Amino acid sequence: MIDQFKTDVEAGLSQEPKTISSKYFYDAKGDALFVEIMKMPEYYLTRAEYEIFSQQTEAIIAALGLDKNRYFELIELGAGNGQKTKELLKVLVNKEFDFAYFPVDISANALSKLEDDLAEEIPLLNVQTQQGEYFKVLSRIRETPFRKVILFLGSNIGNMKDELASKFIYQLGANLRPQDRVFLGVDLIKPKSIILPAYNDKAGITEAFNLNLLHRINRELDANFDLDKFRHCPEYSERDGIAKSFIESKIDQTVTINKVNKTFQFKKGERIHTEISRKYNDEIIKKILLSTDFEILDKLTDSHGYFADYVLNRK
Ligand code: AVJ
Repeated sequence: MIDQFKTDVEAGLSQEPKTISSKYFYDAKGDALFVEIMKMPEYYLTRAEYEIFSQQTEAIIAALGLDKNRYFELIELGAGNGQKTKELLKVLVNKEFDFAYFPVDISANALSKLEDDLAEEIPLLNVQTQQGEYFKVLSRIRETPFRKVILFLGSNIGNMKDELASKFIYQLGANLRPQDRVFLGVDLIKPKSIILPAYNDKAGITEAFNLNLLHRINRELDANFDLDKFRHCPEYSERDGIAKSFIESKIDQTVTINKVNKTFQFKKGERIHTEISRKYNDEIIKKILLSTDFEILDKLTDSHGYFADYVLNRK
């Protein structure tokens, strides 16, 4: 694991423009900062999707075509603290739907906490935590003969370029059977005046989240990034519908990363690209689905029209 980080950081800082994948945000500190981001007034995404789960629970159940008398497996990719999903789980359990919940996460720690929470809050729920990479877990559980519904929420797909998102959804389909469903949460294209502040909150949590990547490199790869000499730099292009985050060097400087035995030069104003957060509309989603085995069955949006959950059917 640490070797992959080392290889990727070395390659990413050696290329033009410098780039490091957003997947490296999520060390213990990064996980905690993301939880704080979700509470920020500017970060509307989580609240908007939570509203869909809490106010349109019946519509979700109907759109997924869930049948009280037919057992199904509800699989959540990247379950986190399950805050939104709990709203759906409570209703399903109260109405005595026959199902098991499979939260999938790379973090064993997050999963065991979620398991404890659920045992307390929804004691009758059948939970089967699955630690590991998404597709490793899916290939492990694909053989069961039961109907499957996959939740992929929070616009997590937005960290992927469209081509990769398309491959990812195709791969989901390869692990499913006809009439299985995917519930895909995506942030919608909207004015810059709403999106940009979501990636640049006044309290500076997103800034700390982005710069934490440099902390992580200092700690894990024995480097000497001086965090005061870099700044968080978010962008949103209304034309593309893509938010991007960068770390910008405030001055000309040299940084040493001991574990890769190298120094890296930064010009004043030079940036490391650290994240894309894609925003969507129907046209973009349809294009992404073209090379997959899915069709759109339904779409639920929050009351502001900020966020959408698409219901996809495996053809
Ligand atoms: C977890 C990928 C959905 O892109 O909005 C939040 C991560 N980055 N603030 C997003 C994030 C900066 C988030 N996702």
